[in-house]
Amino acid sequence: KYISVIVPAAGMGKRMNSKINKQFIKIKDIPVLARTLMEFNKCDYIDEIIVVTRYDEIDFCQKEIIDKYKLDKVKKVIQGGKERQDSVYNGLKEVNKKSDIVLIHDGARPFVKRNIIEENIKFALEYGACVTGVPVKDTIKKVDLNGEIISTPNRKELWAIQTPQTFRYDLILKAYEKAKLDNFLGTDDSMLVERIGYKVKIVMGDYSNIKITTPEDLIIAETLVDK
Ligand code: CTP
Ligand code: MG
Repeated sequence: KYISVIVPAAGMGKRMNSKINKQFIKIKDIPVLARTLMEFNKCDYIDEIIVVTRYDEIDFCQKEIIDKYKLDKVKKVIQGGKERQDSVYNGLKEVNKKSDIVLIHDGARPFVKRNIIEENIKFALEYGACVTGVPVKDTIKKVDLNGEIISTPNRKELWAIQTPQTFRYDLILKAYEKAKLDNFLGTDDSMLVERIGYKVKIVMGDYSNIKITTPEDLIIAETLVDK
C-alpha cells in the first residue's frame, strides 16, 4: 500500500499574536513544524509527505525545516490557499496518483504519537475513513446568540476532534471535489466525507495531541516535550 501525508501549515496564526508564524516558533530549540514532520517521517508505513505553506514561506520551510532536519520523506512543499480547506485541496492534487491512503494532519500539532498514526492507517485501510478524537471533559451546551441555552447534548456522545484524519485517497478526493462544486466550507476534513454519506470511524486520540493556537499553548507545549 502507498501511504501519503498532507500537512497543512499555510495559516496566518492570527490567534497566536506572534511576529513569526506559529509553525516556526521553537519549542525547546526545535520548530513546531519540524517536530510535527519528524513524527511522520520516522513512521515506516509512510511513503511521502506533502507540506502546504504560504507562498512567501515555501523557501524558508524548505531550507530551515525540511533540509535542516533531514525530513527525506517530504516530496513537495507547495502553496496553500485562503482557508485550511483550500490548502488541503491543493495538497490532495499533489499526492502521488498511486496513493491508497492519505493522512491529513495540522502542522500545528507537534505532539502526535506513533501509535495514533499507526492506528489511523489501520482504521483507514479497514473502514475507508477515520478521525482522531478524545471524549470531551467538560459539559458542552448549545447556546443561542442571546446567550440562552438551547440544549445540553449527552456528554457520552461528544468527542473533541483532532488530527490525523485519514481516508482512502479516492474517497477524500471525491469529497473535496463535491465540496468545491457545492461551495461548501467545512471545519474539518471528515465533514466533507460525512456529507457525501460515508461512515467515519473514531480513533482514540490523546489529550496531549494539542493544536498550538494561542500563546498559553506554548507554555503547555514546553512541558509536554520529551514526555
Ligand atoms: N492552515 C492552512 N491554510 C489555511 C489556514 C490554516 O494550511 N488557509 C493550517 C494551519 O497552518 C494549521 C492548521 O491548518 O496548521 C490548523 O489551523 P489553525 O490552527 O486555525 O491555524 P491558523 O489558521 O494559522 O491560525 P489562526 O486561525 O489563529 O489564524
Ligand atoms: Mg485558522
